[in-house]
Amino acid sequence: MRSYWHARVTQHVQDSYLDVPLLKFPEDLRVYEHLLWESAANVVVELGTKHGGSALWFHDRLDAFARHGRIRDPIVISVDRRQKAARAALARVGASASSVKLIEGDVRDPQLPAVVADYIPDGATCFIVEDTAHEFDTTLAALRGFSRFVEPGGYFVVEDGCVDVEEMRADPTWPRGVLPAIDEFLASPEGEPFAVRRDLERYGMSCHVGGFLQRRPPSRGRRLFKGSSNVA
Ligand SMILES: C[S@@+](CC[C@H](N)C(=O)[O-])C[C@H]1O[C@@H](n2cnc3c(N)ncnc32)[C@H](O)[C@@H]1O
Repeated sequence: MRSYWHARVTQHVQDSYLDVPLLKFPEDLRVYEHLLWESAANVVVELGTKHGGSALWFHDRLDAFARHGRIRDPIVISVDRRQKAARAALARVGASASSVKLIEGDVRDPQLPAVVADYIPDGATCFIVEDTAHEFDTTLAALRGFSRFVEPGGYFVVEDGCVDVEEMRADPTWPRGVLPAIDEFLASPEGEPFAVRRDLERYGMSCHVGGFLQRRPPSRGRRLFKGSSNVA
């Protein structure tokens, strides 16, 4: 199992979407498709753009869901400290700057959430993905800064908790601190409304161990997301 995991880790850093590197397991992308559809999120806020492959993938999934009438006005907002490579990649595949907003910033900057908020339309339903440095301070800053954008029933995914699972660590240079940051966040008042959904690691392998967080829906038995303003 361990050698299979290592092979998959190696494979995923060589993967691509539309010829742009995309660093995610297919299993995790499949879970994202389910959660985006179920929550009818029309805005994805991605922290950690790198090459832009994942921003493009999110854009194309939201675009498809809009065409199927599930959502309206899709937008992807992606943040990184540098956006030169992603800008070039998005331009190369013809993605419009109005549907994928690339923002340069540091996730630890307390002003960043307000900058991002300016790009989120009123009534939007947000899906947040934290994929920056996978260290304690960046993870906690992302959770503290961006969990406010998640509506009841919505999702905040903290990627790559695998860095803190000894058996899953593929390289001694991997960072640490994702799972302790999630624990600290959940123990705080702002984290209290969130629950860890381990059941969403549903395809046998996930990098995002303990990282699928859902803001609890307002009341039991109520149909989630019904009447959300972004639902077409
Ligand atoms: C794992 S890569 C993102 C991969 C991309 N989301 C994908 O799936 O293809 C992590 C990115 O986070 C960025 N990053 C690291 N620390 C950051 C910070 N403090 N603030 C913003 N971005 C950061 C890095 O520059 C890098 O491009």
